[in-house]
Amino acid sequence: MKEIRILDKSFREMITEEAIRMRIGELAEQMNNDLKNKDVVCLGILNGAFLFAADLFRRLEIPARISFVKLASYEGTRSSGTIKELIGWNEDIRGKTVVVLEDIVDTGHTLERIMAELVMRKASEIRIATAFYKPEAYRSNISLDYVGFEIPNDFVVGYGLDYDGYGRNLPSVYTLIH
Ligand code: XMP
Ligand code: MG
Repeated sequence: MKEIRILDKSFREMITEEAIRMRIGELAEQMNNDLKNKDVVCLGILNGAFLFAADLFRRLEIPARISFVKLASYEGTRSSGTIKELIGWNEDIRGKTVVVLEDIVDTGHTLERIMAELVMRKASEIRIATAFYKPEAYRSNISLDYVGFEIPNDFVVGYGLDYDGYGRNLPSVYTLIH
């Protein structure tokens, strides 16, 4: 069992680089079939999705474009909670088929926020692709079209996912050892 240490925590390898590579090939094949005749814009959500986006996008054989946005947190002036704003738009998605590329879907709150923005910007069709998904934590009813791996409700790092900024460069996915 491969174990690693990041800052004060230990993690155990859960999904290998090879398994990720193979699964992404399968997702790309599905997308190549499903999206053949669409005008596709992939929308990667930074920072976490950058590796997934690169690996998946490279295996698409349909005409497609890619763009990236980032969720920025700022303190709301009226509410006490943190509000998240999607920044970095440079693509007109009106009338386009947008495929959101996420690193991980947990509660689904982030996805709800992204979805609202895509609807507001008048995308004609929206599909969701995520490398990892935690079904036990999911609280939304947005359907996920392309899921790499369903994983338990534990904290993971690697393949773009971080612990306090570190671990994104790990080619495999590691789960926190309690
Ligand atoms: P929600 O709850 O909005 O969460 O679906 C999505 C965002 O939360 C982060 N997240 C994680 N990051 N390991 C991480 O490194 C995890 O296990 C994990 N679970 C959720 C991530 O930023 C994601 O976009
Ligand atoms: Mg993070």
